[in-house]
Amino acid sequence: MGRTLIIGAGGVGNVVAKKCVMNSDVFTEICLASRTLAKPNNIRDEIRQYLGKDIQTAAVDADDAKQVVELIKKFKPEIVINVALPYQDLPIMDACLETGVHYLDTANYEPRDVAKFEYSWQWAYQERFAKKGILAVLGSGFDPGVTNVYCAYAQKNLFDTIRTIDILDCNAGSHGKAFATNFNPEINIREVTQPARYWEKGQWRETPPIIEEGSVHFLHEYPGVGTYDSYLLYHEEMESLVKNIRGLERIRFWMTFGQQYLTHLRVLQNVGMTRIDEVDYDGCKVVPLKFLKAVLPEPSSLGKNYIGKTHIGCVIHGQKNGKDKGVYLFNICDHAETYKEVQGQAISYTTGVPAMIGAMMVLRGIWKGQGVFNIEQFDPDPFMEQLNKQGLPWKVIDYNKSL
Ligand SMILES: NC(=O)c1ccc[n+]([C@@H]2O[C@H](COP(=O)([O-])OP(=O)(O)OC[C@H]3O[C@@H](n4cnc5c(N)ncnc54)[C@H](OP(=O)(O)O)[C@@H]3O)[C@@H](O)[C@H]2O)c1
Repeated sequence: MGRTLIIGAGGVGNVVAKKCVMNSDVFTEICLASRTLAKPNNIRDEIRQYLGKDIQTAAVDADDAKQVVELIKKFKPEIVINVALPYQDLPIMDACLETGVHYLDTANYEPRDVAKFEYSWQWAYQERFAKKGILAVLGSGFDPGVTNVYCAYAQKNLFDTIRTIDILDCNAGSHGKAFATNFNPEINIREVTQPARYWEKGQWRETPPIIEEGSVHFLHEYPGVGTYDSYLLYHEEMESLVKNIRGLERIRFWMTFGQQYLTHLRVLQNVGMTRIDEVDYDGCKVVPLKFLKAVLPEPSSLGKNYIGKTHIGCVIHGQKNGKDKGVYLFNICDHAETYKEVQGQAISYTTGVPAMIGAMMVLRGIWKGQGVFNIEQFDPDPFMEQLNKQGLPWKVIDYNKSL
């Protein structure tokens, strides 16, 4: 049905490639490309070993739109799944525009020199994508991604009016390392060291970053997983959800962090290792956070000994038939199980599976359109159905407690 180019062969790229191969009726030909050939080739070899199938691989510097255009012209995909880094979003979108190919990603564009999370740069492609007759699907991971689809599903099927949304992301797993991040360390640390923000009654309100005095946190019980300290954090899906969920009064995002992680992060921040500007070292220009990334474990290497579960979901309150109502929609994912299936940990899995499903929706012609769309703007039902089939089953329970 569709030739698919995947760019990025890290923790998430590994999962996307393998899940696409497992759905070869939709993804008929796959090319996995990354900055260097070694990572895609390793994944290709595992695919041969575990799944008995073959994929193509390529090296591409996706910071350079011209290189992506050349690769697209050579491989001729119908869609590009971008699971490289947020810095590459715009050059890859440019290449898709030039060649008339659909685009999908899991994280919004960030400029390298300032840690800023907003859709403005990508939303600015709306007219050009529409004119070219192609589709850009933004944020098809778990959060953003599945969390947006949960909200769209609740809006369509469970509520007349949604008043509040709390997105709650818990990693109750343990990788056994003193300090590591579950997805790209540079991107992860840029995100979690920012001031927290939530949206209420039409306004963004700011609270201190998770490692500073005054950060907002509370003990939340994640059904089936346990009770964990959960910190208010800014997360990009809130920006599109405030536009696309009608009548919304408040939206917040919470993530669990252990004391060991917070202590390491606080020290790294205090000694300057999370800086994103260049410093002079022995006549060389070094960005401390990039150097730190180079010495931390790769997210794709964490899977082998990872135990425990992730629990990510949305608590939604509103009204149905004139009565107050609350629900909790969530997924629980087990690190050891995902390792058995795709040799990857659950954070990579919960991101990679929805990226594959989003691309499947486009290739099957279920999600159609011309322009740039956030994932909650499409029909959530067929995506929700695939989540149950593809390894990320969801539950919905009544939840009347207010947070
Ligand atoms: N929405 C969600 O739920 C969610 C959750 C987690 C992660 N994410 C996103 O998923 C993406 C991938 O995360 P990850 O954990 O897989 O990161 P990762 O393990 O660091 O992998 C990133 C991959 O991109 C490649 N890459 C980097 N720069 C490139 C360039 N200029 N051209 C081509 N390839 C390039 C890297 O190659 P080298 O290693 O050789 O540089 C690596 O293969 C990130 O954007 C992250 O923000 C989204």
